[in-house]
Amino acid sequence: MSDPLLESEIMQRRVLGRTGLEVSLLSLGTGGPSLMGQRSGVAEGDAARVVHQALDAGVNFFDTAEAYGDSELRLGRALRGVPRDDYVLATKYRYHHGGDDVAGDSGLIDGKTLEAKLDRSLERLGVEYIDVYQAHGVLPSRYDEMVDRHLPALLRLKEKGKIRFLGVTETGSTDKMHRVIQKMAEDGHFDTAMITYNVLCQNAERLAFPQCEQSNMGVIIMMAVRRAMSRPARLEEVVADLKSRKLIDPDSVPDKEPLGWLVHGDVESVPAASYRFALEPPIVSTVLTGTANADHLQSNIRAIGQGPLPRADRERLQKIFGHLDEGLGN
Ligand SMILES: NC(=O)c1ccc[n+]([C@@H]2O[C@H](COP(=O)([O-])OP(=O)(O)OC[C@H]3O[C@@H](n4cnc5c(N)ncnc54)[C@H](OP(=O)(O)O)[C@@H]3O)[C@@H](O)[C@H]2O)c1
Repeated sequence: MSDPLLESEIMQRRVLGRTGLEVSLLSLGTGGPSLMGQRSGVAEGDAARVVHQALDAGVNFFDTAEAYGDSELRLGRALRGVPRDDYVLATKYRYHHGGDDVAGDSGLIDGKTLEAKLDRSLERLGVEYIDVYQAHGVLPSRYDEMVDRHLPALLRLKEKGKIRFLGVTETGSTDKMHRVIQKMAEDGHFDTAMITYNVLCQNAERLAFPQCEQSNMGVIIMMAVRRAMSRPARLEEVVADLKSRKLIDPDSVPDKEPLGWLVHGDVESVPAASYRFALEPPIVSTVLTGTANADHLQSNIRAIGQGPLPRADRERLQKIFGHLDEGLGN
């Protein structure tokens, strides 16, 4: 008989807003600096093993995008053979013709192109439907146009059974005040919102979470760790910049290892502290981790199972960084 699971090893699930879907508190993302291992040199077979490691630990939510290189293909192949009801799949489409240049003024795609993109994602993922289909990185200035051009097509695709729920992801550092989320909460067209939230970028607590709660939108957290909380030199650079612009008290954190004080007791590392910070607001349904590294995933699963950060540490983080509207994390 196998050992009984410790409480910290049982993956908590939360309801994803009005979708009613029960999703694991930790979820696996296939974009970001890792791109499911495509950028970090992880072979496809090893990345697939990480997907199964996640499934075995109770992770049931996976996020990808047409824009993430071969991630849809990699994820689809990794999930082949897993019963479709056992996982919740989210992917995204580029809503404009501008490639990665989201700030550009390129035209929006039309409904026919949108359906072709969805069909391609379905094929690459090897599935018949997407649970959460998201417009990727929508700028607030283009949101209304995107709704006008795409909502009729999205609703048609939903009726056809190719999509279950609709979502929008914000742009990490461009939409610093979460204006897209506010627009979504006002019009109620979308079921889920993917939001930047981390120890350096806490303003979703003021500018996005209450709005999501009121409109019962499911909240998916991105960039909980990203570069700033996973690369010590990058964190030092970000903190030095905040100090030089007088945005934080220069004595609030040391220049070297500015968040090292978070690592004590059962908090193993700065990334672990950052994931534990992100899971605390009850409106948060799931926190994405963008890794294809088996050791990192194991550590992140453990961190999520350990629950929120010690109260005093959270309060200190709020005091130091809580007022910032800088869209930090990268
Ligand atoms: N606008 C959008 O739609 C948008 C924007 C950003 C992100 N996203 C989604 O959100 C997901 C998560 O965001 P993210 O990719 O920035 O993920 P993240 O989990 O915040 O950060 C991932 C980075 O942290 C590193 N890392 C993770 N765990 C670690 C650990 N325990 N120790 C040391 N380093 C660790 C990873 O390196 P290793 O690979 O070496 O583990 C990777 O470089 C993405 O994959 C994507 O699905 C969407």
